[in-house]
Amino acid sequence: MRLDRFICKHSAYGHQQAKRLVASGRVAVNGETVTDLRAQIDRFMCVELNGQRLQQQQAHYLMLNKPAGYLSATSDPQHSTVLELLPPELRTDLHLAGRLDRATTGLLLLTNDGVWSRRITAPEQKIPKLYHVTTAEPIHPEAEACFAAGVWLAREGVTTSPARLERISACEAHLTIYEGRHHQVKRMFAAVNNQVVLLHREAMGSIRLDPALAAGQYRPLTATELKQG
Ligand code: URA
Repeated sequence: MRLDRFICKHSAYGHQQAKRLVASGRVAVNGETVTDLRAQIDRFMCVELNGQRLQQQQAHYLMLNKPAGYLSATSDPQHSTVLELLPPELRTDLHLAGRLDRATTGLLLLTNDGVWSRRITAPEQKIPKLYHVTTAEPIHPEAEACFAAGVWLAREGVTTSPARLERISACEAHLTIYEGRHHQVKRMFAAVNNQVVLLHREAMGSIRLDPALAAGQYRPLTATELKQG
């Protein structure tokens, strides 16, 4: 929102007064005087008028090492949710930037910044998601080519976009996918007559799960991770 409109919305001043106040240097944004009426304000900027705060809300960006058994939801009548792993003061306002199935473990991102989470989860961004997969049966050598070509998902009537499979051992692989369809990894392995028994997300884009985080632990993203994400 433009600064002059922001002042009108968050104070008793009318538009002309707001313009004069900005032009006369009475408004500070993130501690700096701003005289440009068209300066863009988002919900996490600290805006002060005559030294009085009109808005200050902190943005939160967290990575969580999701344990198995927790739902990727903010509330649920039946199951524990990942939000319950955070202290109560952090829970309000946070949402998930991408989900994992209840049994899946690993990297989950949480934030209160909807612009950021939409960007990181938007299908057109094609952010790579890296999974460590353990299967019930040995992974067929043809699975690599099959995933690279795309797997037909009958329910949606689409073919998955090319994915990269790197086998680690007979029943273990790294899989990188560029979208996030419902149960996608499990359905891809089902298409090659196999079953996923363990699934762990290691990375989203260039944000990698911190190996120092035990299951259930979280930490804020660093400035570098935020920029990369
Ligand atoms: N694909 C799945 O099948 N499950 C997940 O949790 C994530 C990707």
